[in-house]
Amino acid sequence: MKLTYHGHACFVVQDGGYSVVIDPFLTGNPLADINPESVHVDAVLLSHGHGDHVGDAEAIARANNALLVAPYEVASYFGKMGVRSHAMAHGGKHTFEFGTVKLTLAFHGSGFEMDNDIRNGGNPSGLLLTMGGKTLYHAGDTALFSDMKLIGDLQRVDVAALPIGDNFTMGPEDALLAAEWVHAGVTVPMHYNTFDLIRQDPQAFIQALEVKGLRGSVLQPGESLTV
Ligand code: NI
Ligand code: MN
Repeated sequence: MKLTYHGHACFVVQDGGYSVVIDPFLTGNPLADINPESVHVDAVLLSHGHGDHVGDAEAIARANNALLVAPYEVASYFGKMGVRSHAMAHGGKHTFEFGTVKLTLAFHGSGFEMDNDIRNGGNPSGLLLTMGGKTLYHAGDTALFSDMKLIGDLQRVDVAALPIGDNFTMGPEDALLAAEWVHAGVTVPMHYNTFDLIRQDPQAFIQALEVKGLRGSVLQPGESLTV
């Protein structure tokens, strides 16, 4: 499984000829290294309805005739708009051609921002994505919660993407505990330094992981990691 970071919470994940994008916030993302037109994927996965996660999902899904997989309310909205969509909910797992997705809990909001309005975006989620026998835990936007222990105990996680930005999500101290509980093969920080409000030192986070005997890796936008 090859994971490429594109800033904020956006990753492209590739394995066995399949490619998916998670939370494709590219337009308006100061850290994004690519534009939505250059994204060629089989599926678009969304953790929740906030604008900094939905981003260019609709345009990318339409341009690629890609399947949009999201929490029920968000997937249903795009489905009504004619986008190929698949709705899921917490705890549910489904196997697609590209791999298996399971939605996990996330403690956050999920207002779905559109037309200068905020609609109900359902429950915010994290994603367990398994492709080619390797599993990514993309925590979405979330606070620390002790059921993260279950996520790591029930499923071997090869790579975990955890938010460290604070204010809207876990900060680095809580993310360190999350990393211990998930005990992934490698932990990648996300959701930081996009805006001043979520400025953090990712290398300090990696050093703190190493003190705990855990492996971490900072990905610059455009950088990849293979697990
Ligand atoms: Ni959010
Ligand atoms: Mn966010």
